Order: sequence, then structure tokens, then C-alpha cells
Amino acid sequence: MASGKRILLIIGGGIAAYKSLDLIRKLRTEGFRVRCILTRAGAQFVTPLSVASLSGDKVYSELFDLMSEAEMGHIELSRDADLLVAAPATADLMARMAQGLADDLAATTLLATDKPVLIAPAMNVRMWEHAATRRNLSTLRRDGVAVIGPNAGEMACGEFGPGRMAEPEEIVSAIKGLLAPGARPLAGLRALVTSGPTHEPIDPVRYIANRSSGKQGYAIAAALRSLGAETVLVSGPSGEAAPPGVKTHRVETACQMLEACLGAGQFDIAVCAAAVADWRLADQSSRKIKKRADGRAPALQLTENPDILHTLSQPGATRPRLVIGFAAETDDLGVNARRKLEKKGCDWIVANDVSPETGIMGGDSNTIHLLTAEGVEDWPAMSKTEVARHLAQRIASFFAQS
Ligand SMILES: Cc1cc2nc3c(=O)[nH]c(=O)nc-3n(C[C@H](O)[C@H](O)[C@H](O)COP(=O)(O)O)c2cc1C
Repeated sequence: MASGKRILLIIGGGIAAYKSLDLIRKLRTEGFRVRCILTRAGAQFVTPLSVASLSGDKVYSELFDLMSEAEMGHIELSRDADLLVAAPATADLMARMAQGLADDLAATTLLATDKPVLIAPAMNVRMWEHAATRRNLSTLRRDGVAVIGPNAGEMACGEFGPGRMAEPEEIVSAIKGLLAPGARPLAGLRALVTSGPTHEPIDPVRYIANRSSGKQGYAIAAALRSLGAETVLVSGPSGEAAPPGVKTHRVETACQMLEACLGAGQFDIAVCAAAVADWRLADQSSRKIKKRADGRAPALQLTENPDILHTLSQPGATRPRLVIGFAAETDDLGVNARRKLEKKGCDWIVANDVSPETGIMGGDSNTIHLLTAEGVEDWPAMSKTEVARHLAQRIASFFAQS
């Protein structure tokens, strides 16, 4: 029995909405408390009266109906649940979620939540296979949204293929899996992730930088969050969107990154994925440096930046229990990474070869070697999202054993 875990069920406007009535019934039989949002389109398929009768609660539909004091606001609705489930999740709702739109109660609640989200897509096979839906699906997965189905079979429209909403009992079992105690093994732990490059100003308009995109660090922050860790991301300049539920601080320089890390509190886990510049200008110019009349180039005097990984690895009461550094190397990867592990005092090193021909820096995939006290693991090439998921699982195993 689910001992009163609370599900916020969002019923979208698809034929499969009729199955959601059975889903409510099954969830309640299992001991879940179910509260429902019925979209306007959803109400074309099932009536608010049926949903209210089966859920034993008021049905929520309109964003602006919630403004009276007696009602729960959309923020409360999104927080007052252990899990948000969109079933059926229409192509339209998936697109709005992927875009971060908040144009009705369902979308606003999904955007405002800090709770895990499960979607059960249901739509015509062509809609499901459309490039736009594939894009939205991968964005949602990257954002940490869990997905069940759709199943293949004959559809209400007469076509055949994937698009049928997963059966209510399959959705119940996915919900149970997501809410099982082991499903969020990092719950109660705090994680710090650094990501992206740093920009070290030369003068007000120029800077020293590197080719890091931040993709790997952002994916790690999202993966740790989805395993339940309260996650803080300190990011250098990056075009990546802040992962949902992750507190993100944006900084520019290595000094600012260190300050943001030290100011963010105490952590159990630190993953230093940022490609922090080793040097900054010893004396940055407050005015744009002009070309000289004699044709001589200016001599830039560099000074070493603070070492964030080394600082966070220092022994002491505030040291995170697990400190992980990244080693981006172009030569002698194994030797340099092992040396870095010893020199920095961190626990693990994630080493990758960032030679231009690997396409790793700025790319979507990565081939990593995980160095720990026990030895080296060579992981196969995978997407940065998969690397992040595997690493988060490894971190969870470390805490399960310690
Ligand atoms: C008869 C009918 C059936 C529909 N079935 C689906 C469906 O199964 N899946 C889907 O994604 N959209 C379906 N649609 C389109 C959605 O209802 C429409 O995109 C709507 O804007 C979705 O709104 P919502 O996401 O807020 O519920 C259907 C529309 C009609 C008229």
C-alpha cells in the first residue's frame, strides 16, 4: 500500500482520457491520494463530475479560478504532491512543457513544481513520430521527466503503431517505482556541481576563455537532482538552460566561481565539472587596450587562478564526503588524470580526452574514464546525459555503501 502518497494527476485532451478514470480508481485502491487537474481539452473527453467522484476531491481546471483564498494556488498544488503525473500527456502538453510555457493551469503547475514528474504520452502515431515530438521528448527526458509508454497497437483513429497510452496498471507500477524509497537514493543529500568555462577579462571587452559548453555539468546537476539530491549548480557562461529544480548561480570568472561555491553552504557531494581557467590577467585593464603606434603587441601578464577543486578537497569538517574532479586532457590522459587525483586531494576523477578530433568539448557525447582509489573504469562512448545518469548512479552506490 502507498500509505497516503499524494499524486497530482493532470488529464490532458486525448481519447485516452477515459483510461485515466480507471487510473484514478486503481491509484486509490493502492492507497494513493489523488488530486486532479483536468485541462480544458481533457474536459471534452471526460467530465469533471466523473473525475471528482472517482478522486473524491475537487477538480482543478482554470488558472484564475484559484485566486480565492479558499482555493489552492498553482504553486501549492504543485508542491502539495509527491509526484505529478500527466496522463494522457498530449503532444501539445509535451510541447508546452518542453518550451517552459505556463499558459494554463496544467502547464503552470508543471513548470512551478519541484517534485518528480511522470508523463504517459498518448497520441496518433504520426504525431508521436513527428520530429517536433521527438525533439520535445528528448528535451523532457533531459530535464529529468520520467516517461512511460506509449505502447504500440491499434489506435482509436484506426492507425497502428506506437501512440496508445500505457495501461493504468503499468502507470501505477511506474508511479510505485518512482516513489519507492530506493528511487531517490540521494534524497536528503546536498550536491554542488560546477560547470562551463570561466571568462577571465583582459579589458572591458576582451576575455580569456575555453571551449567548454557546460553540457556535461548541467546534465550531471539534472541527474543528481532526479535522484533526489538538493542540487546547486555554479555555472560559468553557458548557453544551457538551468535544470528544473536545481538552484543555479551564474558567474563569469574563476574567483567568482570559488566565491559562489564557498557561499552556497555545506555539501555532501561536489562535482567539479567546470573548465576553470588556470590563469587570469595579473592586472586587467579598466579601459579597452588600444593598438600601439609602434606596432608592438601588449604583453599580458598572467597570474594563477584559485584552484576550486583543490580548495573543496581540503580535509576538514566542511569537506563534502565525495569530491569529484574532471580532467580534460589532450595528452597522456591516464598519467595526467592520476597525477591530478593525487595532487588535488579529491576522491574521484572523471577523465576525458578533449583533443579536437574527439569532438567532446562542446559536443553531445563523451567517453570517460573514472579514476577512483580502486582503479580505472573505461566507460564506453555515450551521450553526456547518459554519462551523467551513470555517474549519478555511481555516486548513489557510494553513499549506499558508506
Ligand atoms: C477527437 C480528438 C481527439 C484527440 N486526441 C488526441 C490525442 O490522443 N493525443 C493528443 O496529443 N492530442 C489529441 N487531440 C488534440 C488535443 O486535444 C489538442 O492538442 C489540445 O490542445 C490538447 O490540450 P491539452 O494538452 O491542454 O489537454 C485530440 C483532439 C480531438 C478533437
